[in-house]
Amino acid sequence: MNERPVEVGVQPHLLAALREELGVTSAKDGCSPSGQSGCCTALVDRKVFVSNQISLGKVASKSITALESFDRAERDRFAALFAAARALQCGFPPGIFARVNALEETGVV
Ligand code: FES
Repeated sequence: MNERPVEVGVQPHLLAALREELGVTSAKDGCSPSGQSGCCTALVDRKVFVSNQISLGKVASKSITALESFDRAERDRFAALFAAARALQCGFPPGIFARVNALEETGVV
């Protein structure tokens, strides 16, 4: 998790482990159990997933990245871009930032 190995107990999905055991609060529960909002987005081996739709068994031994591990300058850049576009909404930006980061890394944007 965010570049360090972790162990967690039994949880219904990755989001629960992130928030309730690992103190990762950037991923939010915006719509459980539907999986529509993207508020809980995290990167699993640099691919985008909504963390409330993926079991811990599927992420065992994988690299999980949440907004907390992004470089501070990158988080500030995303925040400035979204503020300039007046695209500020409570709960959604961390998931959107994670998705934009993944898209930039793949050259899509
Ligand atoms: S909380 Fe809405 S997709 Fe995960």
